[in-house]
Amino acid sequence: MAPETPIDLGGDRIGEVLLTTPRLSLRSWRPDDLPTFAALNADPEVMRYLGTVLTGQQADELANAIQERFAQRGFGMLPVERRTDGAFLGICGVNYTPWYADKEIGWRFAREHWGQGYATESAAAWMEWAFAELGVPRLISVTDLPNLRSIAVMRRLGMTFDHEADLEEDGDHFRAVIHSITAEQWRAAQPGDTAGG
Ligand SMILES: CC(C)(COP(=O)(O)OP(=O)(O)OC[C@H]1O[C@@H](n2cnc3c(N)ncnc32)[C@H](O)[C@@H]1OP(=O)(O)O)[C@@H](O)C(=O)NCCC(=O)NCCS
Repeated sequence: MAPETPIDLGGDRIGEVLLTTPRLSLRSWRPDDLPTFAALNADPEVMRYLGTVLTGQQADELANAIQERFAQRGFGMLPVERRTDGAFLGICGVNYTPWYADKEIGWRFAREHWGQGYATESAAAWMEWAFAELGVPRLISVTDLPNLRSIAVMRRLGMTFDHEADLEEDGDHFRAVIHSITAEQWRAAQPGDTAGG
């Protein structure tokens, strides 16, 4: 396999800020994200429930593929940047899954940035965007059954247990837990919502 796959990060939509939250900028990829993204994907603790650690080349190709799909569709697993210092913290966003028709919301952060609410803050913004802009009726989140940190993010977002399933990805079988939230449930949980329900 040629190690020199060109990484062009999808041409003209580089580093576009799509959403902001109090602490975070949610944006498309930039070339200077790649070393930090590679380090994150090389950390066995981060990748514990995501198959296996990635080489630098694999991480670059993953970022490139995500950015290319973002340029076509306008969404995907995109960088999360801290506004105070511009640090690349991880990725978060809306995505297709291989297993379900509903779109998924997902997250992957560098270990040194866990425990500060960044995953929940970025995912809440993408969730609002997906219900408002994509008009999806429901969002799901899929993780390995023992990935309690990920399940805790789902619960903080107002998602509830949907079902368990045996799923397969790249030849690996795993027991998954699926959480979900409907647009109605999400709207009813927003501050200031007076519709009840
Ligand atoms: C899953 C993952 C994103 C969760 O990250 P996380 O940091 O635990 O989640 P959050 O960003 O929501 O942070 C919540 C924690 O920050 C704390 N926190 C600190 N400051 C906070 C603030 N200002 N606002 C909110 N929470 C804050 C919360 O109390 C909570 O702490 P706790 O875990 O001790 O209860 C992270 O573990 C990860 O990247 N894992 C590897 C990749 C992975 O498995 N992804 C999922 C695949 S399906």
